[in-house]
Amino acid sequence: DTTESSSLRTPIVAVLGHVDHGKTTLLDKIRGSAVTEGEAGAITQHIGSTAVPLSVIGEMAGDLVDPEDFDLPGLLFIDTPGHHSFSTLRSRGGALADIAIVVVDVTDGFQPQTEEALDILRRTQTPFIVAANKVDTIPGWNPTDDQPIQASKERQPDRVQSDLDERLYELIGQLSDEGFSADFYWRVQNFQNNIGVVPLSAMTGEGVPDLLTVLMGLSQRYLKEEMAVDVTGPGAGTVLEVTDERGFGTTIDAVVYDGTIRADDQLVVGGLEEPIVTEVRALLQPRPLAEIRTEKEFEKVDSVAAAAGVKIAAPDLDDAMAGAPVRVVRDRPVEEVIAEVEAE
Ligand code: GTP
Ligand code: MG
Repeated sequence: DTTESSSLRTPIVAVLGHVDHGKTTLLDKIRGSAVTEGEAGAITQHIGSTAVPLSVIGEMAGDLVDPEDFDLPGLLFIDTPGHHSFSTLRSRGGALADIAIVVVDVTDGFQPQTEEALDILRRTQTPFIVAANKVDTIPGWNPTDDQPIQASKERQPDRVQSDLDERLYELIGQLSDEGFSADFYWRVQNFQNNIGVVPLSAMTGEGVPDLLTVLMGLSQRYLKEEMAVDVTGPGAGTVLEVTDERGFGTTIDAVVYDGTIRADDQLVVGGLEEPIVTEVRALLQPRPLAEIRTEKEFEKVDSVAAAAGVKIAAPDLDDAMAGAPVRVVRDRPVEEVIAEVEAE
């Protein structure tokens, strides 16, 4: 039902976890891209965003879901850096999230930024699932690309299956030590009280259908009410990055998490010294499945509704600050909006 889906806000999914545990690779698998390969030292240094339409999620999840059962428009994924020096970016990503994926390398197990991710999610009370990644690195593993994980697991020799189970029980135990009751996702009845652990490989794609199914199910079941909001009001967002865009000068990459930004809106943006009051010159939207950080062919649009990533061209953005709020003024007194931005 398209009329209904257009009234639901797209949920924001943050991907968090320790450095090199496979966050960007997982997103590459979902969007069919190779962002990881373009990164210096394969280290993510910024927050990114990617819109994944429901049709793509439905296709990847295969037989596990029927897109007819869902009326959310899709998911907006936020990639975050795992390197220890980027803790501000991680909390920013976590704060934006309606739901999250914590990626843990099954061989490396819990690491400092895994715990940091759990702290953020506990603090922000964000529901999450755990992606137990890199199952293909378990000695003796025979990969079956892009398959649901249970079928793939049953095809492994007994020794390999028990090796995986051991690692998963260890993760479940560590989650429990952190105060989260967790289990293999297929045993979880109520995802509100239990954290589902999804074994997968971002490299081979095994278990990715399961992850997307659980994610859609969770969003649909528990976020639908939260997503049934009016997204036509004055837009609110967060600056992810301040960048130079050829032909546009200094622009900001932002995630709009509420309302709508229109191409003729006045904006207040948090700045290094003081809030910047400016007018939108152009709204540039990345294509579906494109990572905003690497997108080259933005489409000029008249408006952007939550949740979405958007590049905003406007005068005077040189002092805009990553992490700062972006607010549409519309029918409100500009002083009120400035005060709102200052208070954040
Ligand atoms: P940061 O953004 O720096 O925190 O790292 P990340 O979590 O995004 O990890 P990334 O996706 O860059 O992956 C790190 C390395 O692990 C890369 O060399 C990937 O190819 C590899 N990798 C990721 N997932 C898998 C997997 O499922 N199996 C195998 N074998 N390798 C993987
Ligand atoms: Mg990364």
